[in-house]
Amino acid sequence: MSSAAAIAVEQPESFAFSPENRARAERIVAKYPPGRQASAVLPLLDLAQRQSDNWLPRAAMDHVAEFLSMPRIRVYEVATFYTMFNKTPVGKHFVQICTTTPCWLRGSADLVHACERKLGISMGETTPDNQFTVIEAECLGACVNAPMVQIGDHYYEDLDGPGMEALLDALARGEVPAPGSQIGRSTSCSVKGPTTLLHVPKRQASEPEAAPAAEPDLATAAADDAAATVDAGAGVETAGADIGTETADSGESGSPKTKPRSRARAKSKTDAGTAD
Ligand code: FES
Repeated sequence: MSSAAAIAVEQPESFAFSPENRARAERIVAKYPPGRQASAVLPLLDLAQRQSDNWLPRAAMDHVAEFLSMPRIRVYEVATFYTMFNKTPVGKHFVQICTTTPCWLRGSADLVHACERKLGISMGETTPDNQFTVIEAECLGACVNAPMVQIGDHYYEDLDGPGMEALLDALARGEVPAPGSQIGRSTSCSVKGPTTLLHVPKRQASEPEAAPAAEPDLATAAADDAAATVDAGAGVETAGADIGTETADSGESGSPKTKPRSRARAKSKTDAGTAD
């Protein structure tokens, strides 16, 4: 085994985007106003890292700096700030185990031990065949399905020790295990199934009946909100926030609950310069 930190990193003499990645880089830069091309530094570093077997040689950072007409030091600052960029080579399968509190409480230590036992390496190390690198990571934003790991671009959630070992076995066989919850949980639903929003609440008898209570047209409301999202631009958040309450008691009635929300949405669209 060899420690990634202890490897004498052999830096390539040069780096240049492949023709395909160069075209991609140019498309990315074109999204920004003239003079603001430095804003593309993150996606271009990501492109460079993917082209370099998931790590960023210094020559690659220099190439990005030249591509964006930036001082090299500014690119180094970005690359060394974000943990998504690897400054040393990593194995083919880059395993990041979240060990932050929610995952730790749900058993991330078992995942660490499983990797160490199965691969014969410690955290931060790479297997001698360069197949696996395993590191500890801070919260990866999937706490609801803790504990979890990120392998390459995929999240594997609701893991335990045996499940982690099974994942490593599958990767070693050249398979790509299905990402997501490993216990079949749907999105971030409770492990025992949905506990809320099981049905649309019925109208209370004490509420005024201005019009016959129509069953809410969920599809129409969702399409309406999708259109608002597309049209509204700056009003996206306001329109999106309405989705839950819109579907809960929508309909064409003039219910007291409907009017204030409709005004909010109309304002949202007006702010964005659109009309219904
Ligand atoms: S604590 Fe592990 S994903 Fe957030």
